[in-house]
Amino acid sequence: MTDVYKVPKGAKKRAHIDNDTYEKWYQESIRNPDKFWKKHGKRIDWFKPYSKVRNASFDGKVSIKWFEDGQTNVAYNCIDRHLKKRGDQVAIIWEGDNPYDDRKITYNELYEHVCRLSNVMKKNGVKKGDRVTIYMPMIPEAAYAMLACARIGAIHSIVFGGFSPDALAGRIVDCESTFVITADEGLRGGRKIPLKDNTDKAVDIAKRDGVIVSNVLVVRRTAGKVAWYDERDIWYHEAMAEAKPDCPPAKMKAEDPLFLLYTSGSTGKPKGVLHTTGGYLVYASMTHEYVFDYHEGDIYWCTADVGWVTGHSYIVYGPLANGATTLMFEGVPNYPTPGRFWEVVDKHQVNIFYTAPTAIRALMGAGNDHVTKSSRKSLRTLGSVGEPINPEAWEWYYKVVGDKRCPIVDTWWQTETGGIMITPLPGATDLKPGSATRPFFGIEPQLVDAEGAVLEGATEGNLCISQSWPGQMRTVYGDHERFVQTYFSAYKGKYFTGDGCRRDKDGYYWITGRVDDVINVSGHRMGTAEVESALVSHDAVSEAAVVGYPHDVKGQGIYCYVTLMEGVEGSEELKKELVKHVRGEIGPIASPDKIQFSPGLPKTRSGKIMRRILRKIAEDDFGSLGDTSTLADPAVVDDLIENRQNRK
Ligand code: PRX
Repeated sequence: MTDVYKVPKGAKKRAHIDNDTYEKWYQESIRNPDKFWKKHGKRIDWFKPYSKVRNASFDGKVSIKWFEDGQTNVAYNCIDRHLKKRGDQVAIIWEGDNPYDDRKITYNELYEHVCRLSNVMKKNGVKKGDRVTIYMPMIPEAAYAMLACARIGAIHSIVFGGFSPDALAGRIVDCESTFVITADEGLRGGRKIPLKDNTDKAVDIAKRDGVIVSNVLVVRRTAGKVAWYDERDIWYHEAMAEAKPDCPPAKMKAEDPLFLLYTSGSTGKPKGVLHTTGGYLVYASMTHEYVFDYHEGDIYWCTADVGWVTGHSYIVYGPLANGATTLMFEGVPNYPTPGRFWEVVDKHQVNIFYTAPTAIRALMGAGNDHVTKSSRKSLRTLGSVGEPINPEAWEWYYKVVGDKRCPIVDTWWQTETGGIMITPLPGATDLKPGSATRPFFGIEPQLVDAEGAVLEGATEGNLCISQSWPGQMRTVYGDHERFVQTYFSAYKGKYFTGDGCRRDKDGYYWITGRVDDVINVSGHRMGTAEVESALVSHDAVSEAAVVGYPHDVKGQGIYCYVTLMEGVEGSEELKKELVKHVRGEIGPIASPDKIQFSPGLPKTRSGKIMRRILRKIAEDDFGSLGDTSTLADPAVVDDLIENRQNRK
């Protein structure tokens, strides 16, 4: 394996940013952030220009404001401002689950859809500041819904279509959302997902918890049979046909909320990460342009789902703010065959392709023939996001998919950061497989030890960011104290990411994974506590402890230690039932991979579960369990080892 891949000549010549420019801009952005962002804030259009740039403190109560006296509108920036120059250019290419199903939507058409939908929402009482829940498949209407919210100043909260009715209800209740947009059914890999049915169930659960959803707007996707409640449900196509095709964009303050997105942490329920208007859009559009080296006319494809932050920033807001053509894919990488991605690349002549390591590993396993029978000549930049990419998968992506021509941008960031934070730039950064390389403009990473001391040079520690950037989350919805506690209490005056990281002698960053009880399964972020609470809600379960373990395709798999109620016998049947139960509580993305029935869990005398030991056993690495002398009952460990489920 090669250690370093130099910037390809072609990439250097074409790129917006070469290495000298990177160095110069980066220094400027750190030394004088106000000046730097004052200039770059102008990349979006403002109804009222800002005079203040940055007003942020990571201390005490923590307050983060950018461009605070400016006024703008995100939908205006993503649509209206492009109409004169590129009204007839394709804004969204939609590629359906079925390879014969596609659509192209121009910026003019996007304008009309979004305006009509804005009017539909207004007519049904949605106002500025209201929370609108979006539970949709990957169809253009999902983007229209986001943009229509942004246009009228409503705050959208997208819930990934793979979440269960319970999970959907929890999110509706947390933000007291009374308007839901969904579809009859979703379609992925030929399988139908009962979105309307799930929504009906969630609405009932929410009602029980005191939140009454007044309207459910339903897009007809498959025309499958659904239950209908006249007093509440509205067909999208009927309402749109009656709505006016123009709607003025609301004047939004830079710090008005744009969206909420629920994400998992190490404790408690998922939290509503709140992003605001001006800074977010500046950061999403700027990173989109420079990280992918986007040029006018490029066809850009990010394979994420709009239910995750990657879909927000890099399918919808970043690319559309830049007037790009963004591809939205309804399906999955291996349907109808593992060659699907590359067929789509050729079909739409994709130039920039952004996906997740889990997809790369799965396709790598399916063999090179599926790749090599496609041309892929249009490809120029490849991207990776969501979890560390192992060097083997990186090399395969680079050599087999990219024919050694295309730089890979391994982008590290989080729901909380709003946009890409540590990443190569295609024309500037020599690449090292497995490293996210260097910080983006304005980002100052610091590695700290457990006591909070800042570590210098080549070292390893906990990854913090020492100063604010425009795309940063502003609070946890409805719980600012939790925001402060989660991100700013571990290390004073710094944003703590929850990730561990190594910095090498060249100043390159290597993310080593979460240092808290968050696991990353196929790029889906999950709190082990959530899976545990789903398990113990089953009648047969008395106690559960969940850890991640290395998984060849998923990155991490879900390993559950389950203690059963007195008198209940463990069986293969019961395992299946527990898997089904967890899927029902959270959603299919949380399916346990391994369940080990354990009469006892390793606890300290004060009753704390020693997860370190459980992780080791799940990894099948029990030779070095470390100090077990503080365990209340050391014999428990022998039983756990004997009955381990992941034998290599
Ligand atoms: O652990 C890091 C991992 O994903 C976490 C953030 O997950 P989420 O909020 O769901 O956002 C995912 C998409 C932005 C991080 O704390 N992660 C994300 N990208 C990378 C990564 N780990 C290593 N390398 C990456 N490129």
